[in-house]
Amino acid sequence: MAVLVTGGAGYIGSHTSVALIEAGFEVVVVDNFCNSKRYILDRIEQITGKSVRFYKVNVCDENVLSKVFSDAGDIESVIHFAALKSVGESVEFPEKYIKNNIGGTEVLLKVMAHHGVSKLVFSSSCTVYGQPETIPVDESAPFLPAESPYGFTKQACEEIITKHSSHTNGSEGFRSAILRYFNPIGAHPSGLIGELPLGIPNNLVPFLTQTVSGLRDSLIVFGDDYPTPDGSCIRDYLHICDLADAHVAALKNIPSGVRPYNLGTGKGVSVLEIIADFKKATLMEVPYEIGPRRKGDIVQIWADPSRAEKELKWKALRSKEEALIDAWRWQQNLNGAT
Ligand code: UD1
Repeated sequence: MAVLVTGGAGYIGSHTSVALIEAGFEVVVVDNFCNSKRYILDRIEQITGKSVRFYKVNVCDENVLSKVFSDAGDIESVIHFAALKSVGESVEFPEKYIKNNIGGTEVLLKVMAHHGVSKLVFSSSCTVYGQPETIPVDESAPFLPAESPYGFTKQACEEIITKHSSHTNGSEGFRSAILRYFNPIGAHPSGLIGELPLGIPNNLVPFLTQTVSGLRDSLIVFGDDYPTPDGSCIRDYLHICDLADAHVAALKNIPSGVRPYNLGTGKGVSVLEIIADFKKATLMEVPYEIGPRRKGDIVQIWADPSRAEKELKWKALRSKEEALIDAWRWQQNLNGAT
């Protein structure tokens, strides 16, 4: 039986596909390459030594998606990554985000129900919490009003999945693990797959590695006057391969009903610490300057990942130094390829 991975050529999707194949799962990827590249699929095959079944499909296209289920014939569960993820772009084009992220999830649920597929792992984000009152944050923290249309779509999809579950409790019962990611960084240690930002990166580590490699003049630290020990914002950075492993664990231990899980290390790290750690791990200088705060940034957040450890039997194992070395290796390979 196979797992359908929507958005399987993307950053988290590609690492998860590798982890699934290595764990013995049969993988069927759908992707429309709107924010990924076809060659990543070859790289997945290169790393795993297995061929990957693939369909170029937009998940919003119900008929075509339904044909994938019929054609593949053996899809038993789904991991749904396919979504747009740029916070800034979502502010500019909110409708595009609603149509793709919410619309795509609705279509997928409908098609899954039609084909009798009842297991879903959903790609969500800690953005659903906003700035939580208590840190580390656990899954009982309430959703705060979304900071961006992107964040709104993640909250809305979680609610749609929960509602869907209460309507479709058939003989099998719909089951879904909702995975709330903290900040995935790094790349596969082979250097063959990693994050491929289109244009100027929004996220910290790709901007940092591009700066160190000379593609950008300087990394701007968005504010050093926050109420944190060194004044810069704090996040919970986890290695992308740990995050990928969490999806395998979620499939193996899929809860009954719908249940959210925080995926992080449980430790908060500041922007200035990431810069210092990068230098220590790679011996490379990071040209940076302090700039103004970024609008909408939350001050600090890190996960209480204990539910995932207990119920999914998953824990982040790799260090942030390892993640930064892997991110740097990937950046150097990218530079070599252009
Ligand atoms: C961002 C999104 C979040 C989304 C996640 C997906 C915002 C406000 N939040 O999270 O909703 O789920 O990406 O990956 O955009 N930083 C700098 N300089 C930079 C880039 C970042 O100082 O050039 C700082 C930020 O202020 C932040 C930290 O680095 O403190 C991490 O930023 P980023 O990688 O963009 O992730 P988030 O903001 O946590």
